Amino acid sequence: MTDPYSPIGVFDSGSGGLTILDEFLRVLPQYDYLYLGDHARAPYGPRSFETIYDYTLEAVEWFFAKGCQLVIIACNTASAKALRSIQQLDLNRINSSGRVLGVIRPTTEQMGHLTKSGHVGIFATTGTVNSNSYVLELDHLWPELKVTQQACPMWVPLIENNEHLSEGSDYFVKKYIDALLHQDALIDTILLGCTHYPLMEEKIKEHLPPHIQLVCQGPIVAKSLKNYLLRHPEIESVLSKNAKRAFFTTESTANFDDKALIFFSQNIQSMHLDLQHTNTPST
Ligand code: DGL
Repeated sequence: MTDPYSPIGVFDSGSGGLTILDEFLRVLPQYDYLYLGDHARAPYGPRSFETIYDYTLEAVEWFFAKGCQLVIIACNTASAKALRSIQQLDLNRINSSGRVLGVIRPTTEQMGHLTKSGHVGIFATTGTVNSNSYVLELDHLWPELKVTQQACPMWVPLIENNEHLSEGSDYFVKKYIDALLHQDALIDTILLGCTHYPLMEEKIKEHLPPHIQLVCQGPIVAKSLKNYLLRHPEIESVLSKNAKRAFFTTESTANFDDKALIFFSQNIQSMHLDLQHTNTPST
């Protein structure tokens, strides 16, 4: 008898979470994965707490209905604004033995090990910056660090339109770097706190002073997931391990499939999903 299908759910507002899934596949290829990008309602960055919570909750309910026992919110904005409420208010009702994890905690756990000056910067969406989640988590885990954030609202649209490596994008890369370093010139480590941003890694490095290191969270989150599964055999043992991958989008499958290779190392063939509030206007 084959095991029941119990993939690891991976959720993002769009395609950025594929950069996290890519690292999961490198480190933990044996598991089944189910990816959902809520492209119809992306970007989440400018949306309100309530809207992001509603959308993320809908997605989490869908993952559990599909058989997941473990869901990773591979989106900083959704992790910042919805994860804690879902863990505390909803998970017990949806699936009392299931788990929902985010990307902020595992990333902040590493930041203190990476900086020498003790001054770190965070590039993130407006939603993540306004939530203050990185500042609060870092303050809790590494109280001696000085943390400075910079919202980069133009980067996700540039990436989604495949303009992130064009000459035009240099202006917005330099603008946000200057704004961050103007706030704190002693920063020696900058986190790319949005799953889209690793696509701009090389472009950002071109404009960064060479002594500043740039941190991409994919490898950190993948390593943390591997450790989590070692520490939680009750979850690990129920995950199905047939190396199946399935991809869903709330928007056009053709668009998602065409652009996936910008974010991901493999071609994909996605399926369409309608979520209840799809096309709710932005708040
Ligand atoms: N991928 C999301 C994140 O990590 C940002 C994209 C969006 O604004 O929807 O924050």
